[in-house]
Amino acid sequence: MNLYIMYLNLLSLLLIFFIPSKSYSDAPEIWQIGFQDPASPIMEGIINLHHDLMFFVCVISVFVTWMLFRTLWHFNSNQNYIPSSLTHGTLIEMVWTITPAFILLIIAIPSFSLLYAMDEIISPAVTIKTLGHQWYWSYEYSDYINDTGEFIEFDSYMIPEEDLLIGQLRLLEVDNRMIVPINTHIRVIVSAADVLHSWAVPSLGIKCDAIPGRLNQTSFFIKREGLYYGQCSEICGINHGFMPIVVEAISLNNYVTWISSKINE
Ligand code: CUA
Repeated sequence: MNLYIMYLNLLSLLLIFFIPSKSYSDAPEIWQIGFQDPASPIMEGIINLHHDLMFFVCVISVFVTWMLFRTLWHFNSNQNYIPSSLTHGTLIEMVWTITPAFILLIIAIPSFSLLYAMDEIISPAVTIKTLGHQWYWSYEYSDYINDTGEFIEFDSYMIPEEDLLIGQLRLLEVDNRMIVPINTHIRVIVSAADVLHSWAVPSLGIKCDAIPGRLNQTSFFIKREGLYYGQCSEICGINHGFMPIVVEAISLNNYVTWISSKINE
């Protein structure tokens, strides 16, 4: 009997190690230094570009450090009593001008293509207007009108610390989330009612300034269902740290159900 239990324990241990379990980090984590997991193609592009750039950063840092210490070592006055009178060399100057320019040129290609991809708004199926207020966000689904001719509109306030339920994230949870369908091109129109705010969601690769009297637009395409947490990213007053953003991505069917319940409210 004991042997049987031991065998079961061993089996469950093996299962834990070998069955891949995937959990995404769509909110900040303790001691996090990397990115949150991407949920949109744009964020995947940003992370890939970052990794590509890190390659150049590593090579350049190692090379410059090596050259610096080599110079300090070989041209030290203890090693060279009589200093060299050399002042310039045309070849080496051309090499150290053209090489960095060439590296920048190589980096510019993926960088520009990503930049233009982020700017592109591909015929959006849903348009949501978000307004920054001191200190909360409000969302307006202007595509849908209810019987009395009003848009779907609601405010989204942070849940204060004393009202948090177990498992909810401090300073990140809101009472009314922005709900969007997955696998759909969504456009967000961002503005502010009072001062500058910024609508930012790391997992979606979005940071869009909210400027009073001006409409900014951005768009995203979410690839998986989930809860994506963000925060206001422009100093907007004393409660700047207390106006988080929560985007809830659900299936299209559930979204239609939610929208119709909102219309009939
Ligand atoms: Cu709103 Cu900072």
